[in-house]
Amino acid sequence: MTSQFDTLPSTYEDFTGTAFRTHLETPSVLTALGDLHGMRVLDLGCGSGVYTRLLKQHGAAQATGLDISAGMISHARAQEAADSIGVDYLDGPLPDHLAGTFDLVLGVYVLPYATTPTELRELCGTVATALRPGGRFVTLPVHPGFRPDAVSYARYGFTLAAAEPLADASPVTLHLRFDGHDDTVTARYWTRATLDATLRRTGFAPPRWSDPTVTGQGITAHGADYWHDYLSHPHTAIIDCTKEGGDL
Ligand SMILES: C[S@@+](CC[C@H](N)C(=O)[O-])C[C@H]1O[C@@H](n2cnc3c(N)ncnc32)[C@H](O)[C@@H]1O
Repeated sequence: MTSQFDTLPSTYEDFTGTAFRTHLETPSVLTALGDLHGMRVLDLGCGSGVYTRLLKQHGAAQATGLDISAGMISHARAQEAADSIGVDYLDGPLPDHLAGTFDLVLGVYVLPYATTPTELRELCGTVATALRPGGRFVTLPVHPGFRPDAVSYARYGFTLAAAEPLADASPVTLHLRFDGHDDTVTARYWTRATLDATLRRTGFAPPRWSDPTVTGQGITAHGADYWHDYLSHPHTAIIDCTKEGGDL
């Protein structure tokens, strides 16, 4: 399928080297995931595979990346072919034989690419189908408290622009500008009420929400002031929810 992400694998790959991802986003995601040893994990919307590889490197027994962008998946597969660590990648929809086989699904910035409530429901439904009962979904939407003019994220390598008032499916323009990259994608804002209701409706227990945090190393390396704007108005939140039907 043709997607706005087909030409962006190197942008997302290189974004992983920014201070923002190194000291804030990635450690926050790994903390939310917890111990991965022995887990079968699906990285939904895996993009270039940066998190799929991390999942495996942090102990997952199985790490599978799935994405609808042919360009992203071909980059991820080439990376695995060049330096194999035992992850696998799928393009297109979740194959039937994988239903109910995952302990954990990670979705970093994938829900913002549902453009309608129906697509949001289908995406959450795919996650519920992939998980065994009691399995977890950890995902990062556009923060429901995001306000376009609150702070600038430019120093972190990106900017976000949107027309107010924000409502479900409002377009949010993400400009990735760092280390010579200059790329634009359109994401979608979803209210907390809609995200909670959609997850509940697709079979999840009440979601737990938290904000990302910065590591002590990040503060030492860049100073507390550098992180202040982001931490006061994070552009993303972390949702952690459990598929009903297991031992909760
Ligand atoms: C912003 S990128 C994030 C990539 C990766 N998770 C990361 O953090 O580097 C969003 C990704 O989600 C994928 N995506 C969007 N809708 C999807 C869907 N319905 N199923 C699978 N992947 C999807 C896009 O193709 C894109 O690669």
